[in-house]
Amino acid sequence: MLLIILNIFCAGLHASDLPLTLDYYKSTCPTVLEIVKSEMECAVLSDPRNAALILRLHFHDCFVQGCDGSVLLDDTITLQGEKKAPINFHALKGFRIIDRIKNKLESECPGIVSCADLLTVAARDAVILVGGPYWDVPLGRKDSKTANYDLVSTNLPTANEGLLSIITKFLYQGLSAEDMVALSGAHTIGMARCVNFRGRIYGDFETTATMNPISETYLSKLRSICPAAPATKADNNESALDYVTPNLFDNSYYHILLQGDGLINSDQELYSSVFGLETKQLVQKYAENGIAFFEKFAESMVKMGNIINPDTYVDGEVRKNCRFVNT
Ligand code: HEM
Ligand SMILES: *[C@@H]1O[C@H](CO)[C@@H](O)[C@H](O)[C@H]1NC(C)=O
Repeated sequence: MLLIILNIFCAGLHASDLPLTLDYYKSTCPTVLEIVKSEMECAVLSDPRNAALILRLHFHDCFVQGCDGSVLLDDTITLQGEKKAPINFHALKGFRIIDRIKNKLESECPGIVSCADLLTVAARDAVILVGGPYWDVPLGRKDSKTANYDLVSTNLPTANEGLLSIITKFLYQGLSAEDMVALSGAHTIGMARCVNFRGRIYGDFETTATMNPISETYLSKLRSICPAAPATKADNNESALDYVTPNLFDNSYYHILLQGDGLINSDQELYSSVFGLETKQLVQKYAENGIAFFEKFAESMVKMGNIINPDTYVDGEVRKNCRFVNT
């Protein structure tokens, strides 16, 4: 029975079927990890927000036809990219950081390192550079020759989506509810736009929050950044997902959920949803035990990074420019 359920939900092949290995570039590009790391150091040093941008890019890559660099493709006459899909438009950045890393890699070992691998390693380094855990990254992904605009809306969860629907989207990728709660801890860094939290701050924020002086002040600040009307003007105004330590990868995101102060609906649902018995316990666990959070986050990031696009196994390539399929 369990196997049948897994088969229904599995979106594609997983790493165990495929030759992802830790030393994939050992002889062909031995400096790959150093190059990505030093470029990410520059990027995050110049602005810690860059860590969040790259981490989110990786997530949005992996949930749409696997971790295949599809999110990096620009629109052309013959290809509709994923960048302008509603959830991604105005919301994904960091592409120039990827270009810079790719240029370095192409001058060091031309035609060897895929954009999908580059992005996976860059996301790992991003997390470390803002104080998060380390994990080894299996390598050997190939880049897709296609993107899928429609799958962005189908596969990626949104800020106002219910808990059960979000869990279903993770199960579809072969990730459990526990993976989902740990991976949501990525919201310990980065920003969200008003359009994604307006419903929350004029909705049930006051119901979930304890409304002590700190959350009172926080809520009124959020409302000044993100007025209820006229709606569109402030849509792109931003606020940190973790208002306590916005640039540090720690477990304070879970503390914020315990207080009921989560910025977007989907975050607070992990703790406050009536369907969230299991997720609530996990939020409590990760709030109490930062090490348990780091361990599970690292494990789940490897799992997410191993979602493979089976097409790339047959017909993938190593792009020369991450924005375009090779000619
Ligand atoms: C569990 C379901 C998830 C939902 C519903 C969700 C939703 C969102 C939303 C609405 C934003 C704000 C985007 C904007 O306003 O422009 C955001 C930002 C972010 N998300 Fe998620 N997310 C989820 C899971 C994840 C996962 C699994 C990761 C990575 C492992 C991740 C990493 C990030 C990061 C780093 C940011 C900040 C980006 C920035 O600073 O621009 N999220 N997410
Ligand atoms: C955007 O946020 C700032 C505060 O950071 C606020 O002063 C401004 O009024 C907001 N923009 C709009 C259009 O409401």
